[in-house]
Amino acid sequence: MIYMLDTANLEDIRQVNDRYPIAGVTTNPTIIAAEKRPFLDIVRDIREIIGEEKMLHVQVLARRAEDMIEEALYLKSQIGGNLYIKVPVIPEGIKAIRKLSEMGINTTATACCSAPQALMAATAGAKFVAPYINRADDTNVDGVALVEDIQKLFAISKLDTKVLAASFKNVRQVHEVTLAGAESITIQKDLMDRLLKNALTDWSVNRFIEDWKSVYGTERLIQD
Ligand code: G3P
Repeated sequence: MIYMLDTANLEDIRQVNDRYPIAGVTTNPTIIAAEKRPFLDIVRDIREIIGEEKMLHVQVLARRAEDMIEEALYLKSQIGGNLYIKVPVIPEGIKAIRKLSEMGINTTATACCSAPQALMAATAGAKFVAPYINRADDTNVDGVALVEDIQKLFAISKLDTKVLAASFKNVRQVHEVTLAGAESITIQKDLMDRLLKNALTDWSVNRFIEDWKSVYGTERLIQD
């Protein structure tokens, strides 16, 4: 499973990177803008926290393929390490993905809300395709079925593009989408924490400690 953190908040990235087995961080212009700091400072700070090897996905802003490519090359020149250029699945985006893959630049097709978009982006050479689960659900398109369809299409065409499911609002969506075959997801810190939250687990841990303490008088297992 590939877990990624969908944020540009440095404190969240520090905590999650320290705690959970994440493979990288994903951003988009909305996520970057929320930090209200210079763009390059933000992405360089993220790179410093996660190191050179973990993936950092950074999105282009332009609408025309030539401009997207220019932005992608700029991002490559400014941000080191394992970088993925996110490109929306609009027609000009598909062109940019095709050209960037020919240049050996890793791309993630994003803002994907239908299976035909995903198939086209993967055929153009995208390494990841990011279906937007909650935004799909919000328009009465079943996000889980969307992932299933995309996986089916990739299998039929023997494409090794990975599904990077994104835009989640709850644990149920994450569970169903991963069960449907998404091998990677990107979520925010709060939802990542909620994946582990369970009252019975917390009760059990408290019980372990209380039982121990009742006999040994301390919460410490190592006693000097
Ligand atoms: O990675 C895509 C994601 O950031 C969009 O999520 O929650 O704004 O729909 P959301």
